[in-house]
Amino acid sequence: MADKIQEAYKTSKSIYDDVLTQGSFFSKMYIKIFWSGTDDNEVARKVLSYIPNDFKGTILDVPVGTAVFTEEKWKSLTNAQITCLDYSVDMIEQARKRLEGCSNITCIQGDVGNLPMEGSSFDIVLSMNGFHAFPDKKKAFRETYRVLKPGGKFIACFYIKGKSRITDWLVKNILAKKGWFSPPFPTEDQLLKILKHLYKDIDLHVDGAMVYFCCKK
Ligand SMILES: C[S@@+](CC[C@H](N)C(=O)[O-])C[C@H]1O[C@@H](n2cnc3c(N)ncnc32)[C@H](O)[C@@H]1O
Repeated sequence: MADKIQEAYKTSKSIYDDVLTQGSFFSKMYIKIFWSGTDDNEVARKVLSYIPNDFKGTILDVPVGTAVFTEEKWKSLTNAQITCLDYSVDMIEQARKRLEGCSNITCIQGDVGNLPMEGSSFDIVLSMNGFHAFPDKKKAFRETYRVLKPGGKFIACFYIKGKSRITDWLVKNILAKKGWFSPPFPTEDQLLKILKHLYKDIDLHVDGAMVYFCCKK
């Protein structure tokens, strides 16, 4: 599974940003047809708005991918200490290039299921479009919780099952087979159960087949 992820993101790295940001006509059509028109740029904007513009603490961005959505925000938070982590060597390399020159930002290659950080290290853990890609979601929930400080915020967005038949079909038959997504995928109720077990003050929203939320440890 690990190699499948390296391979999948190696082959898609050149089109990744275009598809997610709907840079071309084809990307726009793909999102309109298969994702009920859910705009990833808009979801990213909402997710990032949970983080104050004058934030000064520690942030873990996992998985950072190419940093296509987080670059601008991270560069503006000059008083925050930001760690960006991704499993794919190719994706983290692109994030490194985008964020180079920022002394408060560190990019590392690693596995969300085995984070190389001490417990209670971060004020915020951000996971954008990550949990539908992580092969071991149990470990990912456990590790993101472990490295978060008590009172810290877990902020995320990702695909959930059961909201759109065409999206569920695409995910099962294409995206998961290619290795970009990794089953099993929770439904909204299953996700809420997991979050309620670990976190409080859950602010959760659904946009098409995507969920985004902020909650407190
Ligand atoms: C859809 S991308 C999201 C990237 C970025 N957050 C964004 O929104 O553009 C999913 C990312 O998850 C990464 N990934 C998959 N499994 C991982 C793991 N076990 N640990 C860390 N990153 C992982 C992939 O390498 C890929 O870059």
